[in-house]
Amino acid sequence: MSFTKEQILEALGKVRYPEKNSDIVSLKMVGELNVENKNVSFTLIFPTSNNPFEKSLVKACEATIKALVGADVVVEIKTTGKIAVAPVGAPDKPLKSVKNIIAVASGKGGVGKSTIAVNLAIALAKTGAKVAILDADIYGPSVPKMFNVENERPTIQKINGKDMIIPVSNYGIKMLSIGFFVNPEDALIWRGSMATNALKQLINDTDWGELDFMVLDMPPGTGDIHLTIVQTIPVTGAIIVSTPQNVALADAIKGISMFKNDSINVPLLGFVENMAWFTPEELPNNKYYLFGKEGVAKLAQEKNIRLLGQIPIVQSIMEGGDAGIPAALDENSIIGKSFKDLAANTIDALNIRNETLEATKKVEIDPNAGCSTK
Ligand SMILES: Nc1ncnc2c1ncn2[C@@H]1O[C@H](COP(=O)(O)OP(=O)(O)OP(=O)(O)O)[C@@H](O)[C@H]1O
Ligand SMILES: [Mg+2]
Repeated sequence: MSFTKEQILEALGKVRYPEKNSDIVSLKMVGELNVENKNVSFTLIFPTSNNPFEKSLVKACEATIKALVGADVVVEIKTTGKIAVAPVGAPDKPLKSVKNIIAVASGKGGVGKSTIAVNLAIALAKTGAKVAILDADIYGPSVPKMFNVENERPTIQKINGKDMIIPVSNYGIKMLSIGFFVNPEDALIWRGSMATNALKQLINDTDWGELDFMVLDMPPGTGDIHLTIVQTIPVTGAIIVSTPQNVALADAIKGISMFKNDSINVPLLGFVENMAWFTPEELPNNKYYLFGKEGVAKLAQEKNIRLLGQIPIVQSIMEGGDAGIPAALDENSIIGKSFKDLAANTIDALNIRNETLEATKKVEIDPNAGCSTK
């Protein structure tokens, strides 16, 4: 007995994907379907790598095909984690070989942007993705220390006749920071234009190679550097980090307004609630809400913005930052799991963003008329 692709798709249309409460065909999770005699092969495309439903869904597909099409069908199923590709904007798009650029920002200083950016980069790389992190905090660079590469220096190589910066690497992640090139005390007396020019060079004159994700560790506030970044690169989406305190939340709202501003218009991927509660290492099930309970979670609900993750205050996060050994490296720790969830939700939010919205445009500033996009 022979059968058709349509029969297979009809059968697969009965298999539901639990996370979305819809079937795998409608969710476009079936790819590369081939039917030859009694052999069927296809790829199941999951929204994230290492998806928890991988095994059960493969079994369900096989059983459904055998039950509805024929018990003698030989089924071969490959699985893959989908990595979102941001829609391409202008043909002169800088960082063309980077699929997604994620800005980690906040309105307020010291809420844990760098900590979240570094650990998110590690957790994204653990899904098998190619990741880089760019420290855009010209006046207070902290990524080299958190990556334990403070004493390393990027090299320069001639590529196609042009001098290009080769990023430093550690833990499988490429990284650059203005901290490699200038003493932070010297940078403090720089004028804004010097700082932004230095940042532009790190973005444009570096051989970043092919990347699935570039994470930007943004400086605190909503100032010049932020404008430079959106003028220099098409940021795919922004993540706003806040602690649950009221003062931090007020600044987080300023952060949202900046990215949502008509002339900037960078999509928000969601919030991260950092320092959500304190958990002593020896009492992992106890939660103490030092900065108030669920402040960011409530704001997320109110503003209809996704909450991508809640990260507790844990001594190992702080110690890991100081020692240059990010806590997310230990996947099996509670904190490693929190960052794994954050990475999975970030990839999911990027997938939704890339399927529903257009490319982010670089912002062009007309000094006479304020901001406009091109
Ligand atoms: N969840 C956490 N648990 C424990 N310590 C944390 C946590 N998040 C951040 N920290 C610590 O808080 C301090 C500030 O964090 P971090 O430097 O990441 O903040 P930031 O928002 O990047 O600051 P800045 O605005 O200066 O750039 C660091 O010492 C860091 O180790
Ligand atoms: Mg920082």
